[in-house]
Formats: sequence, structure tokens, C-alpha cells
Amino acid sequence: MPATARRLAIFQESVIREMTRLANQHGSINLAQGFPDFDPPAELIEALERSARGPFHQYAITWGAPRFRQALAAKIARFGGPQLDPDRNLVVTCGSTEAMMVAMMTACEPGDKVVVFSPFYENYAADAILSGAEPIYVALRPPHFDFDPEELRRAFAQKPKALVLCNPSNPCGKVFTREELLFLLDLAREHDAFVLTDEVYEHIVYAPHRHIPFATLPGAEERTLTCGSLSKTYSITGWRLGYVAASERIIAQAKKVHDFLTVGAAAPLQEAAVTALEFPDSYYDQLLADYTRKRDLLLGYLAQTGLDYTIPQGAYYTLVDISPLGFADDRTAAEEITRTIGVTGVPGSSFFREPVHRYLRLHFAKKDETLHRAGERLAAKLRR
Ligand SMILES: Cc1ncc(COP(=O)(O)O)c(C=O)c1O
Repeated sequence: MPATARRLAIFQESVIREMTRLANQHGSINLAQGFPDFDPPAELIEALERSARGPFHQYAITWGAPRFRQALAAKIARFGGPQLDPDRNLVVTCGSTEAMMVAMMTACEPGDKVVVFSPFYENYAADAILSGAEPIYVALRPPHFDFDPEELRRAFAQKPKALVLCNPSNPCGKVFTREELLFLLDLAREHDAFVLTDEVYEHIVYAPHRHIPFATLPGAEERTLTCGSLSKTYSITGWRLGYVAASERIIAQAKKVHDFLTVGAAAPLQEAAVTALEFPDSYYDQLLADYTRKRDLLLGYLAQTGLDYTIPQGAYYTLVDISPLGFADDRTAAEEITRTIGVTGVPGSSFFREPVHRYLRLHFAKKDETLHRAGERLAAKLRR
């Protein structure tokens, strides 16, 4: 029998999907896989019904339907992002998942090195490896998830082709400060590296923290590929709409990668999503108010357990330090807590390159009632 590609051997099945299966098996509340259990805004569902009846059933332009790209460029500029030409600076993709893959394959040759912060969203290392590149990890150190500038300098001394930046960060909730971002940009400039940013949580940043789009830093434009998504901002993870934004020189190449990978994102969904991109500012204020309430609600219950946990600056995850509970490791803890308490999280070690086995990641993109039920179970039974 022919052997399948060796590069796939190191990929495991996603721990998150495994935990979801376990949660279903035990009827446990699933705070593992990070997507909402509530509907997107009603106006969006109505827009989808309208677009289903319109002339949007064949391929759109591969790099994105013009109306969608225009609305996207306008929305990005409205929230302090760069001024983008919808024809020259954008490729619409099937979610940020495809966007990151396109960015990686646009920036890197086989054999190149890519700096990835750890803990990290699981796709980055996979994107690098599928592109033939090699990830080099730099730790974001708990509890504040700061990086050590010297460690980062040592990583850059290995001449990486790119740095991956997840900001706001999943899973640690870090929102990088302007000073940190400028430091990263200086290093990227000094070593002539690209910066591939994943900014899918740009609208979920809690006061007093602020999201700074990396591409808006002075001089960042020529080396930044920004990956964004509609998944989280409009609670439509199943619509699979995302994008890469970059300079004309970079996007001309990214268009080719995207074209050969997927041809394009679904045309009727791009049409319907124009409605979302045109939502007034009040939509985003409400989104943030809702997530702030959900965060405080879950953390309020966690406070009753006596355990330590991260207070996210952005995104919708917290890492709970389950080390005082005496489990052999975080994997055992996640399984036991699913079975005995009926709440499921992700063992934190699946996000870390270093051997960190003391966290359980919980997300709070859930209806308040779901969070109350989960919180009550945790507060009653999860005790240090
Ligand atoms: C940091 C980060 N990037 C990307 C994604 C996936 O985004 P999309 O649905 O746009 O592919 C997720 C989903 O959880 C995420 O947490």
C-alpha cells in the first residue's frame, strides 16, 4: 500500500473535538469548543433568506464578491484599521482558518522557520508544517503571559521568515500593548520577517484594554498579513467567512494561493454578510457589553471555587489553574470533571509547547442560562 504523507504523522486529532465527544457522551455542559450556543442577530438570518432567493448561487469572484469586499474595507476603516482598497488589499477566505493557511503559504518557503508564541491556537503549528515550514516557539509566561524579549531575540537570531501573532490571544486572553507590538515590529523589521496576525477577536476586548490592529503601526504595512473573520464578531462560525488584508504586492500572491486552495467563500453567505458589516457601532457596543457580562458571570462562579484563573483582556476564554485539585494531570482532570461535575473544558496542555499541565480552558460564548448552570455546578463541586 502507498504510504501517506509523513508530515501528517505528527498531527493528532484535535483535543477540543475529543472533549466535545466526551461531553456529549456524558451529557456535560460543553465549555470546550469555542463557539456560541446562541443565534446570530435576526437581521442576518433575514438577509440570508433574501440572498438565498437572489442571483448568488454560482462562484463569486475568487478573491471575494465586490459588495462584500467594499463593505469589509469600509468596516475595517470605521474601527481604526488601515484604509484598504477592496480590489487590491483583500482576499476573502473560508474563515480565518483558511486565511492563516493562505498567509503562511504566501509568506513561507519549505524549510523556513516561523516564530509562534506558546500557548497558541492549535492551527498555527499545523499551518507551518503543512507549508513545509518549521515552528520555533517562544513562551508567553503565566500568569501574565508576558514574553521575554531576550528569548524572542534568540528566536529571531534563527532567521525566521515570519512571526505569528494572535491578538487578542486564544487561549490566554492577552491583548498586546502598543509597546509590545512596536517591539515585535522592530524585530521583524531588523530581521526582514513577515508578521502574520490573527485578529479574529478584535471586537471582544475588555476595558481598559484596546485592540491595536498591527498593520496600523508605522511601517508595518509592507510586512503584515492580517487575518480576520466574521465568525466571532457576528456569531456565525458556520458561515466560514474570513479574509487576509495586506499590501497590494502581498495580496497579488495571496490571491493565487487562495484560488488554488478553495476557489472562494460561499457566494450567498458573502452577500448576506454585507448586512453584518453595515451594522451600526451600537451593535459592537452591545456585543462587548454581552461578553463582558458573560465573562464576569463565569468568573464570579470560579471565584467561589478558591482556584486561580486568568481574567481575559480579550477573547472569550479563561484558564483555570486546577493544579491544587490533585489530579495526575490536566487531561485526567478534564475527563473527571466532565464525568463527575458535568462541565467540560479543554486540557490546557494542548495549547502549550512547554510541559504546562495545570490549566483547564473554559469558554463563555454561551447563553447566560448555560453559564449559570455550568457555574453553579463548578461552584458547588470544584473546591480546592
Ligand atoms: C484564534 C483563533 N483564530 C481562528 C479561529 C477560527 O476562525 P474561523 O472560524 O474564522 O476559521 C479561532 C476559532 O476558535 C480562533 O480562536
